[in-house]
Amino acid sequence: MATQRTFSILKPDATRRNLTGAINQKFEENGLRIVAQKRIHMTRDQAEGFYAVHKERPFFGELVEFMISEPVVIQVLEGEDAVKKNRDIMGATNPEEADAGTIRKEYALSIGENSVHGSDSDENAAIEIAYFFKDDEIVG
Ligand code: CMP
Repeated sequence: MATQRTFSILKPDATRRNLTGAINQKFEENGLRIVAQKRIHMTRDQAEGFYAVHKERPFFGELVEFMISEPVVIQVLEGEDAVKKNRDIMGATNPEEADAGTIRKEYALSIGENSVHGSDSDENAAIEIAYFFKDDEIVG
């Protein structure tokens, strides 16, 4: 599998609890390189646009409110098979279903406040990276 890039968000429940370093350590010790990183306070427009695919879901309003409630850290992660590798490191969306040792098993508070987001496909990774980063902000 070739080197890939994926998009990652450390969500408000993680930044609030000062878990940025602990989560980044999980990425780095598992072979993912942080090639871009910014701490931002997402606007409502940014959050609604980013999660537009979930617009009709019952949790959409709650999801947007949560994502704009406090700062997040947005990242581009690079490595071998990065999209799948990051999903393995994160664990299942619902922390109750996440495997031991994954970020969500260790740190997530609930299915909504689940500490991290990671792209679900190579195609979405490219779209999500371009949504938040300019090419010259990514230094591999
Ligand atoms: P994420 O990977 O950021 O993509 C969509 C998010 O919606 C997901 O992580 C969850 O945090 C959130 N989500 C999914 N299902 C629910 C739910 N039932 N209630 C609240 N939030 C949810």
